[in-house]
Amino acid sequence: MIKIDSLCKNYGSFVALNHLNLSIAKGEFFGFVGPNGAGKTTTMRILSGLLRADGGEAFVDGIDVRKNSSQVKSKIGYMPDFFGVYDNLKAIEYMEFYASIYGITGNSARKLCMELMDLVNLAEKAEFYVDNLSRGMKQRLCLARSLVHNPEILILDEPASGLDPRARFEMKEVLGNLHEMGKTIIISSHILPELAQMCTTIGIIDHGSMVMKGSVEEIVSHLNSSNPLAIKVLDRKEEAVRILKENPLVRNISLEEKEIIVGFEGKEEEEAGLLASLVAQEIPVAAFNRQSGNLETVFMKVTGQKEVLEG
Ligand SMILES: Nc1ncnc2c1ncn2[C@@H]1O[C@H](COP(=O)(O)OP(=O)(O)OP(=O)(O)O)[C@@H](O)[C@H]1O
Ligand SMILES: [Mg+2]
Repeated sequence: MIKIDSLCKNYGSFVALNHLNLSIAKGEFFGFVGPNGAGKTTTMRILSGLLRADGGEAFVDGIDVRKNSSQVKSKIGYMPDFFGVYDNLKAIEYMEFYASIYGITGNSARKLCMELMDLVNLAEKAEFYVDNLSRGMKQRLCLARSLVHNPEILILDEPASGLDPRARFEMKEVLGNLHEMGKTIIISSHILPELAQMCTTIGIIDHGSMVMKGSVEEIVSHLNSSNPLAIKVLDRKEEAVRILKENPLVRNISLEEKEIIVGFEGKEEEEAGLLASLVAQEIPVAAFNRQSGNLETVFMKVTGQKEVLEG
């Protein structure tokens, strides 16, 4: 559905996107995560036909965004990361204004706009002035607005930013419904655990390049295998370190008060082999565990030392 190939974008001499590659299948609920300034908004704006890339290609449903941006725009509903000020417009008028851009007017516009406001749980706020809606309501209104032309793909730039837990929950629920309706959704955030709860796949971007992409389970397990082993020995620590150093898969060793922390690149069988080599020399091993990270530490790790994961 979406294919990005070696996309580049510079702002002056600043490289915002650096040969970014990404593909997203139809029906995917894709979480685009990365720290501030990673290039999420830039990528989303290029995909939506709002910004031109300096190099590389991007296709939406086979259509080149550079050559046919108007055709692409008809397929995409884009929700920007900011919400403008709309003095003196009621929510329903705001919706109808956007419908009119797509040539939908009169009774059919009113009906469509009310349906969409209902979809985002705002039906009873139709006659409220936009500026008097809460932030969460404004953001859901903005989402409803992006749906007026019934796009197949939704590109949502931080739709839950600045919302309290309840408003986030409501936004999540609405997005889940839209996904069930068959929309392909791309949503950005800098909070990985939040995306992990709702998305089918996650992609991590840092410094304008994709660092990794996969299902939530894949990402966590991949990263856990790069977590260090924590080995607790009751005695003969120096000898244990000497034995560990002999193993070619051991990358680094640090000593803590009670444990030896070992950077180890092997799989489970190789972990077993490492343990056996200690036991064979009668080292009193009391504990031997792969430290497991949570999603937040995983994210810090990927975006902090991406060279660990590439290749
Ligand atoms: N119009 C612009 N002119 C100059 N630099 C820009 C412009 N737009 C973005 N940048 C820079 O490009 C980089 C990527 O910006 P982008 O907005 O795509 O990041 P982001 O991942 O969306 O970040 P955030 O999480 O803060 O929204 C940033 O370093 C930003 O300062
Ligand atoms: Mg952004």
